[in-house]
Amino acid sequence: MENRVIIGGQWGDEGKGKIVDALSQDVDWVLRYQGGANAGHTIHIGPDKHVLHLIPSGILHKGVRCLLGGGMVIDPWSLRDEIMALEQKGHKVRDRLHVSATAALLMPYHMRLDELRESRLKRKSIGTTGRGIGPAYLDKIQRTGLRMGDLLLPTENLERKVIEKILSANEVLSEFYDAEPLPARVLAEELVVLAQFVAPMVVNPYDALRKVREGTESALFEGAQGTMLDIDHGTFPYVTSSNSTIGGALTGTGLPPRSLGEINGIFKAYCTRVGNGPFPSELLGEAGDALREAGGEYGATTGRARRCGWFDMVAGRYAVDINGMTGVIITKLDVLDDLSTIQVATSYELDGKTITSYPVLSEAIPRCRPNFTEFAGWKKPTSDCRRLTDLPAAARKYLEFLEKELGTLIVGVSVGRDREQMIWTETGVTT
Ligand code: IMP
Repeated sequence: MENRVIIGGQWGDEGKGKIVDALSQDVDWVLRYQGGANAGHTIHIGPDKHVLHLIPSGILHKGVRCLLGGGMVIDPWSLRDEIMALEQKGHKVRDRLHVSATAALLMPYHMRLDELRESRLKRKSIGTTGRGIGPAYLDKIQRTGLRMGDLLLPTENLERKVIEKILSANEVLSEFYDAEPLPARVLAEELVVLAQFVAPMVVNPYDALRKVREGTESALFEGAQGTMLDIDHGTFPYVTSSNSTIGGALTGTGLPPRSLGEINGIFKAYCTRVGNGPFPSELLGEAGDALREAGGEYGATTGRARRCGWFDMVAGRYAVDINGMTGVIITKLDVLDDLSTIQVATSYELDGKTITSYPVLSEAIPRCRPNFTEFAGWKKPTSDCRRLTDLPAAARKYLEFLEKELGTLIVGVSVGRDREQMIWTETGVTT
């Protein structure tokens, strides 16, 4: 079984959860490498719907081990709730779920600070998920935060360390934001109890992943968010605070580049974005609303309505290139089934020039106006298609165009939310 990295090619919510679920059946490990409970992966298995935020989607396959990697920011309160919810549905989780000791520990004050900072930014707010992600990464980068390994400390030491951190966060809350301080002792006591729950799952990732490093165990790397939300390569500052691109898979697990294997980008057949920030191919008004309803485009984490638009090939090619994608998977093709025409943004107008290369600077992107190429719709249902030859000719033409312009093979097409609603196309879609 070859290793594989799953990376969001757009602004997140590309349907990675379903793909990871489909591809993780036979792997030894599924590794989450960045982000935290800002992610929301929805998986439908028969009548059951599972929404996971921290735990990799692979956990639903018995025998698959999952690791929350060191590049993540983990809220132990959310982790416990997610584990309990899975256990209540009959999934045994704790013996297969491992948490890297080096992952950052996200505390309630990070969430509070996220909220306060966003409301202070007012119209310039990022539109975060409110899960404390930015402040938790800030604490890591400025070398003051707690790590999951701290949960292994003797109770007294842990309690003392946590109280110290909360008191120093309380100073920021009251002095900078004029907000209520958090109850340090109560939270520290809660964390001590949580530590007992989580500690048996905390591992040294260097030891835990030894066989993956040696090539005798296989791994699927599960990315969260998407390329355009990457802290370095996305639409800064309207991004998340981690590397959702390929580098994050390395730093977030401690595995070497040779462990990565195939790099598969996941792209919706159109585009969505939640939160604020530039989105050149956005469809406003009724057309955008219709796409949102057809695709059920509401956030799995916050329930927010997603902004919808056409496939953006300028951003798409950029995502393929900077991640070195070796193949892509197109999701939600069936959402376009009823449309008479479909468009793709194939270039931008910027300062009187037509450009096809993504301009990267946050100052330039909001000024880009897309040029569209139009395609005929197929006006037929595709959700029962399981082979390329089952698809209507116009749908194949659309996919062939995406494959050609993205410059890499389409290795899979998702045509519905269920596990089996997939067309696998190892040799691409172009005949
Ligand atoms: P944060 O990650 O909560 O700080 O949010 C920063 C930006 O990333 C906001 O625009 C969020 O809406 C967006 N974002 C974060 N996680 C996800 C995700 O899993 N899917 C889509 N957008 C996300």
